[in-house]
Amino acid sequence: MSSSIQVATDGPVLTIRIARPEKKNSLTSAMYGAMAGAIEKANGDAATKAVVILGEPGAFSAGNDIQEFLGFAMGGALGKEVIDFLKALVGSTKPLIAGVDGFAVGVGTTMLLHCDYVVASTRASFSTPFVNLGLVPEAASSLLGPRLMGNARAFELLAMGRSFTPEKALAAGLINEIVPEGAANDMALKVAREIASKPAEAVAITRRLLRGDPAVTLARIDEEVVLFGQRLKSDEAKQAFAVFLARK
Ligand code: COA
Repeated sequence: MSSSIQVATDGPVLTIRIARPEKKNSLTSAMYGAMAGAIEKANGDAATKAVVILGEPGAFSAGNDIQEFLGFAMGGALGKEVIDFLKALVGSTKPLIAGVDGFAVGVGTTMLLHCDYVVASTRASFSTPFVNLGLVPEAASSLLGPRLMGNARAFELLAMGRSFTPEKALAAGLINEIVPEGAANDMALKVAREIASKPAEAVAITRRLLRGDPAVTLARIDEEVVLFGQRLKSDEAKQAFAVFLARK
């Protein structure tokens, strides 16, 4: 397991903590693999009744590691681990709760579309600069985004790369509540314990009804993965990655 992903179980709640502060919690293949494994572990454990995803103070996640993106752009294939993680989110049979106490960029934001309850602090921000990087939306955000917030706001977020404040994210339905700086993780854990105290089978069935057919979401992920893989190798993307990595 990647040391930048810390998995812990406390009674009925399994916590996945993204812990790579030196790189603003950007995500590598190993980290995606560890997170996918943790979600699958929770699925297979009847005693686990909720899964919480947390980041660091100030940084939920800066999205995919751009150095790895560049590696894929220069010849590798898009990592299997990221696809496993996205599919694990869709396949989760346990409620997913997130605590966001800082910026959530790229997949840091799009993974929230798969969560059932999101707590954000006043210093949270949400952005998906895919197009600015020459890329396209992933994680079925092209399906779930417009479904959740309507096409107008989804376009602003997913195509224009504008950052949403916590207030705007709340109005868009991306998050459930806003808490003071530093309080998002504790509140997310509290919410998880509340959900975990309810009859688990009824929660699971209700969740499945609310989320709709997972096959449709998985099919959109597959469609996006093909396009994303093509875009990674585009000149637009290669230039954008090089500019980011050389900016200091
Ligand atoms: N991939 C790889 N490294 C990243 C990263 C990413 N997505 N995001 C941040 N880092 C690294 C930086 O390169 C830097 O490393 P260094 O100290 O070795 O140079 C370190 O994390 C700190 O980042 P820095 O940019 O100095 O922090 P900041 O607080 O000024 O800005 C962000 C934070 C998130 C706004 C900024 O880092 C950023 O825009 N990151 C890229 C986000 C992105 O485009 N993700 C992909 C989405 S598809």
